[in-house]
Amino acid sequence: MRIPILAANWKMNLSRREAKNLVEDLLKVAFPVQQREVVICPSFHLLSEVGSLLEGKANYGLGAQNVYWKESGAFTGEVSPTMLRDCGCSHVIIGHSERRGYFHETDKDCFAKVEAALQHNLVPILCVGESLEQREAGKTKEVVLGQLQGALKGQSVSSGDKLVIAYEPIWAIGTGKTDTPEGAESTIAVLRQELGNLFGERIAQQVRLLYGGSVNAGNVDALMAQPNIDGALVGGASLKAESFARIVNYQTQASLAN
Ligand code: PGA
Repeated sequence: MRIPILAANWKMNLSRREAKNLVEDLLKVAFPVQQREVVICPSFHLLSEVGSLLEGKANYGLGAQNVYWKESGAFTGEVSPTMLRDCGCSHVIIGHSERRGYFHETDKDCFAKVEAALQHNLVPILCVGESLEQREAGKTKEVVLGQLQGALKGQSVSSGDKLVIAYEPIWAIGTGKTDTPEGAESTIAVLRQELGNLFGERIAQQVRLLYGGSVNAGNVDALMAQPNIDGALVGGASLKAESFARIVNYQTQASLAN
């Protein structure tokens, strides 16, 4: 069984005080959590502090939003996997479309980052997704499969639960437009099939595949009802304790029936 992951991508937001208040408020309403994992991904300057607040909180993890693949040295402005481990990180987002778009990250960079993360026991949350133009040209699957292969083909993955993929259509990020649950499911199912080609069926069935792009308290239940959607990567709605707590406590078909 794949344990769902609800991940908060805070992007370049929040002061130390705001982050502390947010985590404390969130833990009041969304802790303890069972049968799900929550990963908070703050900006670098908040990692240690948020890590301390999450210490000992079962099923809560700490993620960075980026990593460099070198161990140490003269790479001004970069942060290594060892440094992330040192701050208490368990996860790291790799290849977010904002990094690919604004900072020109390539699939080759993503490959090196995923490899470094895996070697340092950090779970990569690899993001893939198509632009509106690519979608309208009917190229969604081709684009996301290319990104998946570019970052993963040739990696050595011993266990699928050490790898997370987030499908985030670029046109849905921060726009209030979401893919339909069926549309997201269909793209994510294709990604899982490709993971099977790359790493074998056992591993493909273990990998958690998330949907991201304007996930909120109102649409999370329908997205999570899809068989291949194992969680969400949430930007805007993760900046408010109330909305993110509702996402963490999403309702399953079984809980809705009770
Ligand atoms: P959003 O961002 O939820 O604000 O659309 C998601 C993301 O970029 O990871």
